[in-house]
Amino acid sequence: MQPNLRFLAVLLVTICGLYVVFLRSSRSDKNRKVEQPINGSFTTRIVAVGDLHSDFENAQTVLKMAGVVDEHGNWTGNVDYFVQTGDIIDRGDDTIKLYLWMETLRSQARHVGGDVFSHLGNHEWMNVIGDWRYVYPSEIKTFGSVAARQKMLSTGRIGKAWQQNYSVTSRLPLHPEAGLPNADFISLPEDQSSPFSHSALSFVHGGLSPTYQQLTPYPSRINDIGRKLLGRMQSRPPNPPHPPNPYIGLPEDATFEEKSLYDSDGPLWYRGWATDNEERVCGAIDDVLNRIGVRRLIMGHTPDFEQIVSRCGGKIIIIDTGISHAYGGVLSALSINYTITPSGTTSWTEREVISAVYPDREEILVSDERAVLRKL
Ligand SMILES: *[C@@H]1O[C@H](CO)[C@@H](O)[C@H](O)[C@H]1NC(C)=O
Ligand SMILES: *[C@@H]1O[C@H](CO)[C@@H](O)[C@H](O)[C@H]1NC(C)=O
Ligand SMILES: *[C@@H]1O[C@H](CO)[C@@H](O)[C@H](O)[C@H]1NC(C)=O
Ligand SMILES: *[C@@H]1O[C@H](CO)[C@@H](O)[C@H](O)[C@H]1NC(C)=O
Repeated sequence: MQPNLRFLAVLLVTICGLYVVFLRSSRSDKNRKVEQPINGSFTTRIVAVGDLHSDFENAQTVLKMAGVVDEHGNWTGNVDYFVQTGDIIDRGDDTIKLYLWMETLRSQARHVGGDVFSHLGNHEWMNVIGDWRYVYPSEIKTFGSVAARQKMLSTGRIGKAWQQNYSVTSRLPLHPEAGLPNADFISLPEDQSSPFSHSALSFVHGGLSPTYQQLTPYPSRINDIGRKLLGRMQSRPPNPPHPPNPYIGLPEDATFEEKSLYDSDGPLWYRGWATDNEERVCGAIDDVLNRIGVRRLIMGHTPDFEQIVSRCGGKIIIIDTGISHAYGGVLSALSINYTITPSGTTSWTEREVISAVYPDREEILVSDERAVLRKL
């Protein structure tokens, strides 16, 4: 290589290196947690809420109860992440209000270093597909007309929010060494991986079935399939709503992967983690957790009208309690408190306390503690 070429090559590599450092630091700016020295103590607080089904009043009560918002419905800053696992739409009239409120909260949260993670449930997808069996006529009036509703859910404000700010699933780290929110999990050999590699949680509406084939890389594979399908459907003339029109379903050019996404075993509809027997569920869960680098799967979709359901020692948590008055279930939120504190020069203590919060009580579902050795 000629000297000036070599100089150029070195310069190029340096610039690329600096750019990567810049990207990392600018990304971590968005997330104050990444900036904290992991030497010290460190806290992450997450609140997750299940199916809301167009009931703004109950949704507000729940978020207030869990400390996510104040009495005006504004972000308090007392939690780092608020997660909603989908099915905001259908069975009620407050569709528009709820989606707009979610965007207000997202923006308020990001201003103070927090974030809101929103998911598309089977009901959001049903509405895109033209399956309007659970749409109330009174709700259509809040949009003005069927055509106005179709527009708002495709190229309008709500449709755009779905495209930009909603995903099918999320992987949320409890500790920065588990990755940035929604960065793909990379499985490393044990001697190279961080003791915090699985200190993360997975959220989805229905469930990540053990037989679902598009699980990894997690979570980008599932979310890419969803985003592409959603974009294609939103950019085409919508299916005429069923009823009264016949049900059409997914587009004819839907790929195998897109059909699997919307299948009864896919992440939007799967109920196995909620309904299968204990032996089967607890025998199958570890493999899924290991493959996607999380310690728990948290989901909505299958309601229990009395309580949040924790299975296999909290590896599976089902948070749909029929919050909407359409069901009349119990108001609930899942609260996750994670702390890591130095315990001497060679170790940390990691604590995770998960509780189900109800209007009249709070129940501890998980209270885990472990010692983690520092890598020197
Ligand atoms: C973390 O602890 C190590 C060992 O005590 C020390 O050398 C290092 O400076 C600390 N880092 C920060 C960011 O405090
Ligand atoms: C909080 O809520 C009130 C009432 O809805 C609103 O007027 C105010 O602008 C909100 N504050 C922020 C910071 O958004
Ligand atoms: C998505 O969220 C960001 C951050 O709050 C916001 O700036 C953007 O307007 C949102 N997109 C839509 C379509 O609401
Ligand atoms: C979680 O942390 C919050 C804020 O510090 C606290 O109010 C709440 O009681 C904690 N929950 C549990 C179960 O420890």
